[in-house]
Amino acid sequence: MKSKILALLLDAGSSYLSGEAMSETLGVSRAAVWKVIRQLREEGYEIEAVPRMGYRLVSQPDQLSPDCLAPYLPADFQLGSIHYFASTPSTNTEAKAIAWDAPEGTAVIADEQTQGRGRRGRSWHSPANKNIYISLILKPDIPIQQVPMFTQMAAAAVWETLSQELPGLKIKWPNDLMINGKKVCGILTEMSGEMTGLHYLVIGIGINVNTESSDFPKDLRDIASSLRLEAGKPLSRQKLAAQLLVSLNDHYRSVIESGSFERALAVCRAQSNLLGTAINIHDRDQIRPGKAVEIDQNGFLVVETEKGLERLSSGEVSIRKAK
Ligand code: BTN
Repeated sequence: MKSKILALLLDAGSSYLSGEAMSETLGVSRAAVWKVIRQLREEGYEIEAVPRMGYRLVSQPDQLSPDCLAPYLPADFQLGSIHYFASTPSTNTEAKAIAWDAPEGTAVIADEQTQGRGRRGRSWHSPANKNIYISLILKPDIPIQQVPMFTQMAAAAVWETLSQELPGLKIKWPNDLMINGKKVCGILTEMSGEMTGLHYLVIGIGINVNTESSDFPKDLRDIASSLRLEAGKPLSRQKLAAQLLVSLNDHYRSVIESGSFERALAVCRAQSNLLGTAINIHDRDQIRPGKAVEIDQNGFLVVETEKGLERLSSGEVSIRKAK
């Protein structure tokens, strides 16, 4: 009921909605509507009430809690599968701590990370109430060699979620989303398993949504950006986080049902900023030049080098665009 009233107020935008209209639409009494409005105000929603005109949502708490995401999610979405933290060291660390007992599809979401983690032991800048930090627990019955494909599945889901707002968004194989040459999203996939099979995997996604230039540490300002900086306007974290959950869920269903990652790989190929360009392959202490030619059906990057065609696995090398 709370999320339905919120959804009506959000739909109405800057127009007023009468208590009577809401009670008729939802088939409840006006007293019940009033009770929910009071509850929402207590939770930090600013709702203006004008006699004979009705209610108008002025502002909402800037949080990614299940209650705040609910109005943007389909009615049948399992809100119980979202574990929300105002602040946590790392959503990936938290997801791994609960993964054994949590049902697959459980998402850990935070408004701040105090020890956000990136790939290769790097840290992930995670200021409070600006960005999206999500980790999704999955338990697919697959050989562990296929795990890196889930990073590309997530990249495709992120691209589909954000590209309407950011037409120039590109995917840098295997785990970055870039715009104008700067990174706005990173993906860290971690797993627990044995040679015989996977126990669980955790896909961690960090999206710089409303970070301002001054929020970035100096060493990141030339290489990282945010959706707000690139789109020139702030964006709703709640709406994007909800759309991302829906898109991830949708992609995962199609992987499980079809047994193939082709749908996600097609997005990664079409939106790649590497294919057809000169790159440098950073392989331990060596740097080698090459040209990225394809992402194959196993998610490997196929590169033309002086040795001929090489298939690179995301776990082993890092790629930079050649200047
Ligand atoms: C990278 O590009 O190096 C990967 C960055 C991944 C960051 C996300 S934020 C949510 C999740 N929790 C973490 O500690 N890391 C991932």
